Amino acid sequence: MIKVEPFYDENTGTGSYVVYDDTSRAALIIDAVLHFDVASGRLEFDLAKQQLQFIKTQNLQLHYICETHAHADHLSAAAYLRQHSQARTVISEGIGEVQQQFSMRFNKPVTEDQTQLYDILVNDGDTLMLGKHTLKVMATPGHTPDSVSYLIGGHIFVGDTLFMPDVGTARCDFPGGDAHQLYQSIQRIHALPDETRIWVCHDYPLAGRSVQLYTNVKISRNENVHVNPTINEAEFVALRTQRDATLKVPRLLYPALQVNLWGALLPDQEAGGQRFIKIPLIVDEDSYVTQ
Ligand SMILES: [Fe+2]
Repeated sequence: MIKVEPFYDENTGTGSYVVYDDTSRAALIIDAVLHFDVASGRLEFDLAKQQLQFIKTQNLQLHYICETHAHADHLSAAAYLRQHSQARTVISEGIGEVQQQFSMRFNKPVTEDQTQLYDILVNDGDTLMLGKHTLKVMATPGHTPDSVSYLIGGHIFVGDTLFMPDVGTARCDFPGGDAHQLYQSIQRIHALPDETRIWVCHDYPLAGRSVQLYTNVKISRNENVHVNPTINEAEFVALRTQRDATLKVPRLLYPALQVNLWGALLPDQEAGGQRFIKIPLIVDEDSYVTQ
C-alpha cells in the first residue's frame, strides 16, 4: 500500500511529501523545500532533515526526489537530499524550456546538457516504479510549461495545477504559462476516479480555516472556485488573466529560479569562495544615466 507523509513549510506555505510503499519500504519525496532567508542570505535545511530522519526511523529507502515543476516561490532541497541518499532527482523534460526563458536574466547562457543537472527527465505517460507500485507521470502544463503531476496508488501530486477548492488555481503569467493549458490540465485531473486523493504543493488558507494539503477529485471537480461545472474555459481564462494582472512578483522568485532551474544546485562559487544570488535590476527612469 502507498502511504503519504506530508511535511509543511510555513515560510512559503509549501507541502512536501514523503511517499512510500509500506511493503518494500521504497520511498520518494515530492517537492522538497530549502528555507532561504533573503535578508541574511542564510540557507536552512530543517525540513529536508526532518524528512531524512523520517526515512531513517521508518526504515525506508529513498529512490527518487521528484519536482512537479521549477518552483518560483521556494528553493528546492532536491540536491541536498540527493547528496544525503542514493536517490535520483526527477523533473519534467520541459525544464529545458524554462531554463531557456530565464537564463539570460541571470547572464547564464544555456548549454544543451544543462537539463542533465537533473538525473531523470520525464514526459507525459512515463512511469517509475516504487516497489511493486507504478508511478505515472501526467503532463499538466499551464502554471508553467514544465508542470507535471505524479499519480500513484490512488494519490495524485499536482504541484501548482490545483489548490484547495476554496483557493482555486495558481497563476499562469510566468513565461510559458498559459491559462487555456491550465484549464485543460485540470480537466485531465478531474477525469480521474472520484476518490483519487489530490495533494497540493501550496495552501494559503483563507481566514477561518487551518492549513489543508489534500482534497479529492470529486470535491475538487464540483467545488473548486475557479474550475467547476458552472465555469467554461473562456470564463476561466478571463478570470485567471484578470487576477494574474494584480499579482506581485513572488518574494523568492529570483533566488528560487537560480537554484531550481539548475538541478537545485547552488550557484557556482565566485572568487574567494562566496556564492551569490543575483537580482536583475529594472531601471525605468530614462533620465538616470547609468554607467
Ligand atoms: Fe509554482
